[in-house]
Amino acid sequence: MAAEPKSKNIVWSEGHVTRDERRTLLGHRSATVWFTGLSGSGKSTIATAVEQALIKQGKVSYVLDGDNVRMGLNSNLGFSPDDRTENIRRIGEVSKLFNDAGVIVLTAFISPYREDRDKVRDAIPDGEFVEVLVDCPLEECEKRDVKGLYKKARAGEIPEFTGISAPYEAPEKPELVIKSAEYELAACVQQVMDDLKQRGVI
Ligand code: ADX
Repeated sequence: MAAEPKSKNIVWSEGHVTRDERRTLLGHRSATVWFTGLSGSGKSTIATAVEQALIKQGKVSYVLDGDNVRMGLNSNLGFSPDDRTENIRRIGEVSKLFNDAGVIVLTAFISPYREDRDKVRDAIPDGEFVEVLVDCPLEECEKRDVKGLYKKARAGEIPEFTGISAPYEAPEKPELVIKSAEYELAACVQQVMDDLKQRGVI
């Protein structure tokens, strides 16, 4: 996923602790659960509720959230196609590191471009990338308009707004599809938990 490093004369340094040792210590496998969907579709709400459910069961998990990460690590990025690509590339790298540390990562980014998500998938070991489409119709997201951004986007105050003036490419073969407008939050969470169990992550 990473481009060829700009730095020369660098050598990968191996630690002494294996993935299996970390897995044994924590009692579960790690994975990247990648929620993708429109703004307001429920990605963050579902991801944080899944995180809570996992922690309750003693599983180490952590949410990486679009808005939050854009306040720190990715504060130099906007919403142009290139910036979104770089946003997702960095989050993919962070997810890999967290996975290596044994953590079940839950990401909540619009991640509108299929190619960007697929690059992350390719960089993560087989079976450890779980793509979850949070499928909520645009009309419903716009009706909710929790952050008031759709209104601004319609008024032309926010350029390149996903679903309005910028594209969203839904995954063709996601591991899971959550119809967030049709089910209660608890049912959505259960769907993810069941899937992780079935995959042997937890
Ligand atoms: S992504 O497209 O690069 O994956 P990300 O998930 O990090 O986006 O950030 C999306 C959040 O930023 C939205 O939920 C919304 O709160 C805010 N936002 C601000 N401007 C835009 C925009 N032009 N398009 C989409 N979301 C925006």
